[in-house]
Amino acid sequence: MNPAFQMHRLFPVQVAQFDFDEGFQQRVRTRVERYLESHRARRDVVEGPVDSVQTSYFAGRSILADAGLDELRDAIMAAAEQFLACFDVSAMPLVVGHSWINLFRPGMQETEHSHEGSVLSCSYYVDAQPACGDFVVPDPMGARRIHRTFLGLAGRSAEGAIEQRFTPAPGRMIMFESWMPHSVLGNKSDATRISIATNLNRR
Ligand SMILES: [Fe+2]
Repeated sequence: MNPAFQMHRLFPVQVAQFDFDEGFQQRVRTRVERYLESHRARRDVVEGPVDSVQTSYFAGRSILADAGLDELRDAIMAAAEQFLACFDVSAMPLVVGHSWINLFRPGMQETEHSHEGSVLSCSYYVDAQPACGDFVVPDPMGARRIHRTFLGLAGRSAEGAIEQRFTPAPGRMIMFESWMPHSVLGNKSDATRISIATNLNRR
C-alpha cells in the first residue's frame, strides 16, 4: 500500500525571465550603440577594479537616462510590478536606484555578488552571442549546497540542483530579488556581451 505522498516545496527563489520582441530589441540596441560612441561612454565606461568587466557602474550616473532608454525603463517598471504580484503583498512603489552598462569582452567574467540594499535587480541583454557567459545562480542555501555536494546528491533535476544557469539572449531580461547571489561565466564567444543592469529601490 502506497501512503499518500506530498512533497512540500518551501521558500522558492524566484527568477523571472522576460523576452522582448525584435522591434523592442532593435530600438534599445540603436540607443545603446549611440551611447557607446558618445563622449559620455568614453568617460564613464571603465575597467572594473575587481572583476574583469567594463562598466559604467562606478560613474554613478543612470545609463537609462544617459542613453535615453525610456522604453526599457518603462518595461523594467512593468516587469517589477509583475514580479512582486507573485508575493501577494500590497503594492510597493519603486524607483530606479541605479542603472549601468556592462561590457563583457571575450574572456571577461564576473564573480559571485549580490545587489544588497535594493528591492529588485535585473539584467537586460542588448547583445549576447552563444557561449557569451551564462548568468549563474548558486543555491543560496549554503548548508544545502555543501550537503548535496559533499554527499554526491547534486541531482540533475531543477529541485536537486546546486546551481541554475540562465543563458542570455538578445532582448532577454532576468529579474530577481536583490539579495540573491549570482555570477557571470566567462565570455567564450568572440563578440562583446552587452547588458544593462538596474537596481530598483523602494521609493
Ligand atoms: Fe549582478
